[in-house]
Amino acid sequence: MHIQEYLPKDMFNNHTVFVTGGGSGINFGIAKNFAALGANIGICGRSAEKLEKASAELRELGASVFAQSADVRDYSMLEKVMNACEETLGPISTLVCAAAGNFISPAEQLSPNGFKAVMDIDLLGSFHACKAAFPQLKKTQGSIVFISAGMSLIPYFAQVHVGAAKSGVDNMMRNLALEWGRFGIRSNSIVPGPIEGTEGMKRLAPAGLDHKLKKSIPLGRYGTTDEIGQAAVFLASPLASYITGTTLVVDGGQNLPGSGQFADVLREAMALMQQQKTS
Ligand code: COA
Ligand code: NAP
Repeated sequence: MHIQEYLPKDMFNNHTVFVTGGGSGINFGIAKNFAALGANIGICGRSAEKLEKASAELRELGASVFAQSADVRDYSMLEKVMNACEETLGPISTLVCAAAGNFISPAEQLSPNGFKAVMDIDLLGSFHACKAAFPQLKKTQGSIVFISAGMSLIPYFAQVHVGAAKSGVDNMMRNLALEWGRFGIRSNSIVPGPIEGTEGMKRLAPAGLDHKLKKSIPLGRYGTTDEIGQAAVFLASPLASYITGTTLVVDGGQNLPGSGQFADVLREAMALMQQQKTS
């Protein structure tokens, strides 16, 4: 993998990384980047089939893997899974809180239960993971990486549920940085931009609409799951040993307030001015 060209393949030997929702998409990309650098990997999610497929790929990269079904909304189930993971792989050094749900719904059409489903998975589920992993993180003086989203930074249309959940996640990240620093535990988050080939982007910008979004991103393209994995590796590594309470935005500039349609309008205005000068 790309990351092995830059960092030692044994960088995370004897280091256990647990990724909630680690069986697919961005989260699986994160797990793969740690696995490629020698980490033991724990993953959970609701679908056992997804976890089995992901485990096989992680083992091919040389990782020892622990994978068990768990819904992050069920605290006692998650706690059992994390304790079993410790017995198999040793205590967690890096926890990645990444399980999430999303769909498009305008606020006035969203049912209270729809709002609650996303709050429960993204926000309460992340707290459950932190609380269940805390005794292990205390032993390792480990760190937490939350996977947030641009909706935490600025409002997005038809995303009131995700905005509420992810800004809660980012605030919890800062709160835990403040409270758990005394145990040597660091806490940070990543805001991914639109990432190629993921369930999230299939839901938010289905094929046919994605070219519009790509045009509005300053770097002109979607990101890759590896690019988010690399950011997570950095935050979990000794290279980030004094970084806590921080959000790392990895989005090709997509969430800069002046990007998007306003940038298009300004580009057109410039072209118009140019035309007027030459005529
Ligand atoms: N639009 C509006 N409301 C929706 C919806 C949609 N597309 N999809 C689900 N809901 C509502 C349901 O109607 C229900 O509310 P109700 O009881 O008032 O009818 C509520 O959300 C819960 O739905 P349910 O299907 O029981 O939830 P779940 O717990 O089985 O699944 C989801 C959770 C809804 C988030 C589901 O999309 C999921 O599992 N997502 C995981 C994958 C994903 O989203 N990946 C992208 C990550 S960013
Ligand atoms: P994804 O593949 O659907 O990832 C979500 C994962 O969470 C799945 O593996 C899913 O597995 C798991 N999950 C969902 N509900 C769960 C629950 N209740 N308990 C346990 N696990 C659960 O989607 P993705 O797009 O890659 O998103 C990954 C993360 O990146 C999310 O946190 C998302 O908010 C964030 N993000 C994505 C983008 C993007 O461009 N895609 C941009 C910004 C942020 P099961 O269904 O098997 O449970």
